[in-house]
Amino acid sequence: MTDVSSVSANMSSLPANASSASANMSSVSASANTSSVSANMIEVSGLTKAFSGGTLAVGGLDLTFEAGRRHAVIGPNGAGKTTLLNLIAGELRPTAGRIRYNGRDVTRTSRVKRSRLGIARTFQQPTVWSTLSVADNIALAAWPHSKVRGKWRRGRYRSLSESCERYLETAGITALASRPAGALAHGERRMLDIGMALAADPRVLLLDEPAAGLTDQGVERLLTAMRALPEEVTVVVVEHDFAFVAAIADTVTVLQDGKLLATGTPTEIAADAAVRTAYLGESGAVPDAVEEVV
Ligand SMILES: Nc1ncnc2c1ncn2[C@@H]1O[C@H](COP(=O)(O)OP(=O)(O)OP(=O)(O)O)[C@@H](O)[C@H]1O
Ligand SMILES: [Mg+2]
Repeated sequence: MTDVSSVSANMSSLPANASSASANMSSVSASANTSSVSANMIEVSGLTKAFSGGTLAVGGLDLTFEAGRRHAVIGPNGAGKTTLLNLIAGELRPTAGRIRYNGRDVTRTSRVKRSRLGIARTFQQPTVWSTLSVADNIALAAWPHSKVRGKWRRGRYRSLSESCERYLETAGITALASRPAGALAHGERRMLDIGMALAADPRVLLLDEPAAGLTDQGVERLLTAMRALPEEVTVVVVEHDFAFVAAIADTVTVLQDGKLLATGTPTEIAADAAVRTAYLGESGAVPDAVEEVV
């Protein structure tokens, strides 16, 4: 469990007057101060994904993720959280609706192109090159996005590796650099996954349940890495652990049955009656972490 004192310390710094359950998050973040950055880094409208079996995973979603902020997406199992990330990253094509990234319509843009444009993601089940070292996994992830071009020569490899040291550092895995990725523990592999996503030098980082299955110590390490992320990167994190969410998120979006249930600060969301009912409906009890923050 995350250190609750650090969670409440964080909560006290949240704005007290943000309007609850407001889907209008149009104010510009202080960190999004370069002219080429749109206030709304991600904007989805009428976004819908129906799978062939008939499941409506995402049903007409309208929401925005502001530039340079930390956004969390929560909701019961099957709410459509992973599907939303897949649609934003371009791994899935929507059945209907539009996706705008930094002011540009990317609804029909391929996953590879979106990645080049600056959208990176991690997965619920991280995949890495097991026989390669941690450092080489990061170098490989950086390669398509780096300015290093031409044949794979030792000098180029060295310069690429050196430029990747900062990603190892941000992910807190410098000490593991020469370890084969296949020998990593679960939590270490998750941190590598984050390092690999950072190596794409993203503007938007989509994280799918990064804290899942981590020990208390692993969650602390993850929190440290999250706080070390470049300020200008827009982060969207799907997570069930509400203490974790409260510790890092500026805004929380709650999905239920593929629809928007509520948007607000962690404090507002923890106190939101509809959100509490959504969790009660699933498990019969409000998660401890939600109780702790209310
Ligand atoms: N490829 C697929 N084919 C058919 N149905 C799918 C597919 N992927 C997801 N679904 C269904 O869509 C719904 C939303 O799934 P999704 O994985 O987005 O939920 P989630 O909110 O990420 O859940 P969890 O918290 O369990 O990870 C679920 O009913 C799921 O069974
Ligand atoms: Mg999921």
